[in-house]
Amino acid sequence: MYQRTKLQAKTALIGLSLLLPFCVNRIEAHDGPHQDSPQLKWPEHLYKPTPIPDRICTSLPQDPTTGFSVTWRTDVSATEGLAEIALAEGGPDFTSKAKQINGRTQAFKSNLGKALYHQVDFTDLKPATRYLYRVGSGTHWSEWIQFQTASSKPEPFVFVYFGDAQNQIKSHWSRVVRQAFADASRAAFFLHAGDLVNSGASDAEWGEWYYSNGFIPRSIPVVAAPGNHEMVNVKVKTDEKDETDDDKTKTVRQVTPHWFATFAFPENGPKGLKETCYYIDYQGARIVVLNSNQETNLQAEWLEEVLSQPGPKWKIVSCHHPIYSSAAGRDNKPLRELWQPIFDRHQVDLVLQGHDHTYSRTNPIKFRPGSLTELNVPTGQQTQDEGGTIYAVSVSGPKMYDLQPQTFMANWATKTQLYQVLKVDGDVLTYRAMTATGDLHDEFTIKKRDGQPNELVYSKIREK
Ligand SMILES: [Fe+2]
Repeated sequence: MYQRTKLQAKTALIGLSLLLPFCVNRIEAHDGPHQDSPQLKWPEHLYKPTPIPDRICTSLPQDPTTGFSVTWRTDVSATEGLAEIALAEGGPDFTSKAKQINGRTQAFKSNLGKALYHQVDFTDLKPATRYLYRVGSGTHWSEWIQFQTASSKPEPFVFVYFGDAQNQIKSHWSRVVRQAFADASRAAFFLHAGDLVNSGASDAEWGEWYYSNGFIPRSIPVVAAPGNHEMVNVKVKTDEKDETDDDKTKTVRQVTPHWFATFAFPENGPKGLKETCYYIDYQGARIVVLNSNQETNLQAEWLEEVLSQPGPKWKIVSCHHPIYSSAAGRDNKPLRELWQPIFDRHQVDLVLQGHDHTYSRTNPIKFRPGSLTELNVPTGQQTQDEGGTIYAVSVSGPKMYDLQPQTFMANWATKTQLYQVLKVDGDVLTYRAMTATGDLHDEFTIKKRDGQPNELVYSKIREK
């Protein structure tokens, strides 16, 4: 029996190795050792793929009313990736009505070994409808998972925003994402403003990220902006000769291949930045994600175009590097000069950021030339420009920087892990910054007014 099983397995492996070059894309991440990578014993065993689907993650398309995507990982024994989907119902008989959909499979080589990543795009679904889906193939399937499509009307919804998780993800970040889920379990999506991990090419760190999230991303989609720690050295094919490589490849700094394998973000961004710069229209809000690591000029043109199009009334942007930095010596003046006038011109309501490992939030403010220390913004309650944008920087993981107090800060925190719960309800947007223990730290409410700038209804000011 053992011999037969072994022979079957060997035959399957030979078959797979012959088949794979024709049916999958090969992706390989290269990155050097990182001091902050988890010092795990046998990480290749802790986070190795199996025939059972894991790292199951949902993503939203540009129009989330009629579809969503799911990605997952298996070991190389799974020759295909399938999904099944049915309308959700209270009883168990929905399985007989489930429709099967073929996925796309790609071979993936991480620093811990080989895996397969699979993706299925569900399309032609009904708006505001609950579905049940599962992924897998053969005898190895996930559980049935409930997922609700967005409404085609601007109905109220909640989402959660996180600053950098990045370090000690399993030991210190997991409690934050779980508290956020306890607080906002019906969230439309969880938005991560970059640096989800510390070493973008470390499979063990992505393993920790998925461990911490547990089942949450299976039914609450992930929306994410890439941080600088998601940037890795990647070898790409080229005709140009590079001094350090052979004449067929060159090394470039790009968003980690893990990003593209593990998420299925909309491909509506500029060429070369797809899935790292994109937008999603969700029930009355346009969520624009920018990649502040690369090609910021190209994105300025794209942003101008996306914000000029007719669309939802709320305009919310997320990027990793802060327009208004909260930590000492980290001013991103060129980025502010490039992007903030566009935010002003199109009356972006809110910009959600990370990178500075502190918490800071402004009232609505408009562009002023100069470095942060030269801005001459009036302090406290008066720090407010009619028609300006509110900028938030937050941190969800345990790595902390010192805060540099600035006049533009309406509220701030140091050495505190946070998550933010935002509710969009018609003309009103409420924002709550919560500590890792679920206590309210900061809050504001803004209201849309026809033909007039937003009204700042309430802002919890922290006195200096
Ligand atoms: Fe960071």
